[in-house]
Amino acid sequence: MCGIIGYIGKQQATPILIEGLRRLEYRGYDSAGVAVLQNRELATRKKKGKIDEGLAKLVQANPIYGQVGMGHTRWATHGPPTDENSHPHLDQSGKLAVVHNGVIENFDSLKERFLEEGHTFKSATDTEVLAHLIGHHYDELMKSGKGNWTGEGTHPLAQAVMNALREVIGTYGIGVICTDHPGVMVGARRGSPLIVGVGEGEHFLASDASAIVSHTRTVIYLKDYDVVTLFPDKFKMDSLGSEVASFQLSKIEFDADAAERGKFAHYMLKEIFEQPKTVQNAIRGRLDAEDGTAKFGGLNMTTAELRAIDQIVITACGTSWHAALVGEYLIEEFAHIPVEVEYASEFRYRNAPIEKNTLVLVITQSGETADTLAGLRESKRRGHRVLSICNVVGSTIAREADGGIYLHAGPEIGVASTKAFVSQVSVLTMFALMMGRIRMLSNRRGSQIIKALEAIPDQIQKILDQSEEIKRIALKYAHAEDFFFLGRQYNFPVALEGALKLKEISYIHAEGYPAAEMKHGPIAMIDEKTPTVILAPTDALYEKTFSNLEEIKARKGPIIALATEGNDRIKEKVEDVIYLPATWEPLHPLLAVIPLQLLSYYIAVARGCDVDKPRNLAKSVTVE
Ligand code: AGP
Ligand code: GLU
Repeated sequence: MCGIIGYIGKQQATPILIEGLRRLEYRGYDSAGVAVLQNRELATRKKKGKIDEGLAKLVQANPIYGQVGMGHTRWATHGPPTDENSHPHLDQSGKLAVVHNGVIENFDSLKERFLEEGHTFKSATDTEVLAHLIGHHYDELMKSGKGNWTGEGTHPLAQAVMNALREVIGTYGIGVICTDHPGVMVGARRGSPLIVGVGEGEHFLASDASAIVSHTRTVIYLKDYDVVTLFPDKFKMDSLGSEVASFQLSKIEFDADAAERGKFAHYMLKEIFEQPKTVQNAIRGRLDAEDGTAKFGGLNMTTAELRAIDQIVITACGTSWHAALVGEYLIEEFAHIPVEVEYASEFRYRNAPIEKNTLVLVITQSGETADTLAGLRESKRRGHRVLSICNVVGSTIAREADGGIYLHAGPEIGVASTKAFVSQVSVLTMFALMMGRIRMLSNRRGSQIIKALEAIPDQIQKILDQSEEIKRIALKYAHAEDFFFLGRQYNFPVALEGALKLKEISYIHAEGYPAAEMKHGPIAMIDEKTPTVILAPTDALYEKTFSNLEEIKARKGPIIALATEGNDRIKEKVEDVIYLPATWEPLHPLLAVIPLQLLSYYIAVARGCDVDKPRNLAKSVTVE
């Protein structure tokens, strides 16, 4: 939900912090700030708004020099986006600075306690209270004579952080520095992501790998309750959760340029055009043409265990939830296993009657969505096997699941998810194929699915080649204030996804419905100013969908139809047609979503919206 970057080492910290924050800005961009230890003083710069509009100018006008520092780009939870509420926040003494991702749920009671003790606060945030709490415990250690460090055991700054965090209810990923200890930086996490970058004579803290991959590829994915003390040439791991702290060195999978925008105007456009490769990366090495099935390493389940599954629950949020809905159709069609799809935020509290042989799938691009993580933990608490379908290696959900499937889609920077959806649906198609072939799906049928899936990358490219035509159509409707998206069966979740894409980047009100559902009320909204995008590929229900199209046309609603190549008849009925290559019905979502992504993108750009950083949003929602 926000971006944290920290540096300690031999280089100047400020340029590393500012560049790292630019790479993290997709995680939240209400405000940004840095704190650097400069001549044993805490030099802070912080500003409302995006980095290049605020903080970067501030730092350029008033530079800071020092080799230890932290930066933060914020998505506000407590207190509006203002300069004062920007991070870093200082403790009462002004010697200690904190950056924080998460929510301190008991900040109110803590604040009251400190106000009674005469503390003063400059912001309305929960994070400033955390800074005062850490400062309080640090002062206690100093007063008790435990502030000197012999070089062995836990550093006093880390000890103060640990003592403070024991009082905290809520989630955190934090960085802490203090003027008394210029060669030390402390990091800690519970419920919000935080990684350590291990360099030569330097160390980094970051919310995700994209911020530091240009400096080091050796990282440690901190676990909940880890507390790390970083020095320029070493680090020490402690844990609030166990006596013996452990860690594992990992390598970042992707290159620095994978997180670059390149020749594209926006990350979202780059990621839309990456999708042929995205599908190739998702299916690579996982299709077994000989046996007409798919194979995954990392499920940590035997075939017998998979065969014993008699129900599947899929839980996710947002676009990942739409992918889950496609998965429901796929798994039920290929494997005849009952599937329930649940919004994670509801699932974790609903007392759903779940049979013991139920497999829970959690789908998430970031691997850090708080609601989805809670759904995973609730499922594990009930003793269910949980598998994740996730894009970020080493993320919390990927690590806490019993097994899983990585998307291998590379970093998705655009806040509006595009390639992750296509990758998730590709993986779900293969998962459904595998489950079906364990049951009654024939080798022949399986081979047909594989053949159709292998053709998808080229077919996506064929749609992308129409981007100028799709842009021309989009511009015709950029002024609309309401949109409908309609689809049946496999395309119903795609209609929902198309509506979400348009809403979240162009701020146009849009709704997705099963096509037949319109006549049960929503059609009252149709008039000549309300465009409808109707997904009408040539499939078993085409004639039914065509009737729904006629119903809208009869009420003068403008229609953009997605149709299968060769269907010339539909042109006479609608204002605009976008043609899709013919494919097997269960694979339509992989193609139909592409024009919807492009329509939303071009409309949003035409409306002057910030496509990569839409208002009010953040890429990874790590708060509930
Ligand atoms: C999708 O465009 C949105 N950015 C949002 O709905 C997102 O899909 C949702 O927050 C889930 O994120 P996740 O896949 O990282 O869990
Ligand atoms: N709760 C903190 C605030 O509102 C941190 C929010 C975040 O994770 O960006 O400032």
